[in-house]
Amino acid sequence: MNKHILVTGHLPEIVMTELEKVFIVDAYNEDKPYERQRLLHNIKDKDGLISMITDNVDEEVLDRASRLKMIAHFGVGYNNIDIKAATTRGIAVSNTPGVLTDATAELAFALILAVARRLVECDRATRDGRFRYWAPMLFLGREVTGKTLGIIGLGEIGKAVARRAKGFKMRILYNNRNRINASEEKELTAEFADLQRLLAESDFISLHVPLTSETRHLIGKEEFSLMKPTTYLINTSRGPVVDEQALLESLQNGTIGGAGLDVYENEPSLTPGLKELSNIVLLPHIGSGTLETRIKMASMVAENLIAGLSGSKPPNIVNPEVLQHRRLVK
Ligand code: DGY
Repeated sequence: MNKHILVTGHLPEIVMTELEKVFIVDAYNEDKPYERQRLLHNIKDKDGLISMITDNVDEEVLDRASRLKMIAHFGVGYNNIDIKAATTRGIAVSNTPGVLTDATAELAFALILAVARRLVECDRATRDGRFRYWAPMLFLGREVTGKTLGIIGLGEIGKAVARRAKGFKMRILYNNRNRINASEEKELTAEFADLQRLLAESDFISLHVPLTSETRHLIGKEEFSLMKPTTYLINTSRGPVVDEQALLESLQNGTIGGAGLDVYENEPSLTPGLKELSNIVLLPHIGSGTLETRIKMASMVAENLIAGLSGSKPPNIVNPEVLQHRRLVK
């Protein structure tokens, strides 16, 4: 296949080797975002693009991409791509669902445990020589076992979090656009709750919704005011789902108990004041960041791109309507 592709992120070598067997690859081996000007320039003669969450694939980029037929996005969330604009230009877009479910659920659970048991704070104290003696009331956290977990967004990742929570004998409330069927609710021991009740009753609230115009600032000042002063908020979805300024104030005022964040409203910047707080654990967007998962994501991206650019339906296409007026031809 004589197709040219652009890869805007440093992917595992094993997958790059496969891609290079099939395509003429414009690769990028740096562990930092691809520069906008470089993207605008290099997209011009490409048939395919492997995009990262750090690429803003908007109309300006798509207008330069007169040959582009397919964007294989490295990630499950594709809010950085203007899907409507891609579709009207006949460009298919795929993502990487499923393969990162366990890694992301693991991280959400790691954050639950880390904030509740103050792991990062205690690690720092130990390194700083503040572990001078054992005493009954020192370094106390909160128990996770038996508490109420509110899951907002019960898709694959939300369900995987629920399965882990079952192991901790947690009571699980969930809120989702659509209620899941009764047998799945039973399997997950998850009870549907409207947002207000979930916010008011949960000890931990974990967010698993995609970023859309409806979910932007889903959790803001009003929502924090409904939570208990001991509630911990966990976000491994997308930063802008939470109003970060309102979160900062809620943590400073004691409106809620703490937070565990993997994503930020203006990534990689943090709202000033956030990193000074002790009741928060901050991670650098590593939800899917295990070697195993990143290899699977890269293979999935390659599989989609190969299918798309050889005229077949990409298995993980997110805009199937494009197939009516697609540019995807051999
Ligand atoms: C995802 O897959 O959406 C991860 O957050 C990486 O972008």
